Amino acid sequence: MKNDQYESLISSVAEKSYGILESFVDSDLLMNLRKILLSKLEEGEMHQAGVGRRYSFVENTKVRGDLISWIEPDNANLYEEMFFDWIDQFLTYLNQTCYTNLKGYEFHYAYYDIGSFYKRHLDQFKSDSGRKFSFVCYLNPHWDEKDGGQLVLYTPNEKKVIQPRAGTVCFFKSDEIEHEVLETLQPRLSITGWLKT
Ligand code: OGA
Ligand code: MN
Repeated sequence: MKNDQYESLISSVAEKSYGILESFVDSDLLMNLRKILLSKLEEGEMHQAGVGRRYSFVENTKVRGDLISWIEPDNANLYEEMFFDWIDQFLTYLNQTCYTNLKGYEFHYAYYDIGSFYKRHLDQFKSDSGRKFSFVCYLNPHWDEKDGGQLVLYTPNEKKVIQPRAGTVCFFKSDEIEHEVLETLQPRLSITGWLKT
């Protein structure tokens, strides 16, 4: 990402609590990350995501149906390193220009099989106030409106619908923006994470 792309995300977040880039184009990196996700899926390394301790496994799947795998910075492969370099640069830029005082991050791969969704929610839980910004990076080379699986952001002024297409990056305030993932009609791959204080 270039400084003007950082700037457009940041000014958009300042104005409406979210920002979207559609032209992020290291498609080589994205397609390699996609391959890694798919091999984890094949190896059985993707697992059912949790919602909260209060819920049982069955209740979880009524809220969200994605499979996830955390990306370990200490154990990252070449492409994951490239991804984290990019995030490091963005985090540094944010701290330098916005005094955000971010100290770290966490990211996971996410796989939504056909029929999966994630009901409307907020990413910041009472027990986890360290999550300041959510960051979603899609790994699907083709996506159509009819494929479902859109991310919907709910703001006081609008309902913003985002197609989960590779090259699109979505960035928003974790404690402000409620959002949901609509039922997907195609396998839907992404990397999702949080910048933390
Ligand atoms: C999440 C989430 C959005 C998306 O994982 O918390 O809301 O578009 N993901 O995958
Ligand atoms: Mn979320």
